[in-house]
Amino acid sequence: MEQKPNPFMPYMATIKSVTDLTPDVKLFSTELDDPVAQNDFNYQPGQFAFLSAYGIGEAPFCLTSAAHRKTGIEFAIRAVGTVTNALHELDEGTKVGIRGPFGNSFPMDDYKGKNIIIIGGGIGMAPLHPVINTIVDHRDDYGDLLIINGARSPQDLVFADEFDVWAKASKTKVELTVDRGDDNWKGRVALIPDVVVDLNPPSENAVAIICGPPIMIHFTLIKLKDLGFANDQIVTTLEGKMKCGLGKCGRCNVGEKYICVDGPVFTFEQISQFIEQF
Ligand code: FES
Repeated sequence: MEQKPNPFMPYMATIKSVTDLTPDVKLFSTELDDPVAQNDFNYQPGQFAFLSAYGIGEAPFCLTSAAHRKTGIEFAIRAVGTVTNALHELDEGTKVGIRGPFGNSFPMDDYKGKNIIIIGGGIGMAPLHPVINTIVDHRDDYGDLLIINGARSPQDLVFADEFDVWAKASKTKVELTVDRGDDNWKGRVALIPDVVVDLNPPSENAVAIICGPPIMIHFTLIKLKDLGFANDQIVTTLEGKMKCGLGKCGRCNVGEKYICVDGPVFTFEQISQFIEQF
């Protein structure tokens, strides 16, 4: 991609559509106004970009779309703070700013031929969404795909309209679970770590990719290790207090690493080298 003269300067972009994914998560599909920049905006599953609401500020979000699908530059955003609440007020046609793409990505080529277990809790499914769609769209390149998606309630399961599509792909299983069901819910009511134990995925030739609340990651990690997964077979994406996205401000450091340039995707083998408790 052509280097912008000032990497702190966002591209002008337009919101093409806004879709409610859950009561507090919206999917924003955007497009850069400059057609050349839009065409050159290439990114990989796991990368992130800064999205700005003009007059309010910017915040980093993982890129939810799979670039090869050419659906637009998409972000699944939960309203939790000043910038995200402001973004939730914006409609189709509104101008926004986009800086990126930044960070490393899931090494999809390394996963070819392996069985993949995707474990997402709540909005943690957002960075996993392009991983799933990359595998589904190149199904023969990968082994079995097990998707475990959990949320507080059935209404909080993001990407619900894609579950059937994913489940119909060959060698693919989708397992949903919630903390609290409702009158219509016929699925599991269980915590994600317990679902992992119940499904007992073989660790041989497998990679587990986890994203979600820290408490869920903590206990899922323990269960995966009990099932024989080594630290280098378990991958996650880290969140940090990011400001520049360019490895310059020092805001996102964990140990000697910067999440924005060394991550956000790390194996637990890598994390164990800079965060003691792992
Ligand atoms: S966000 Fe500035 S160094 Fe990472």
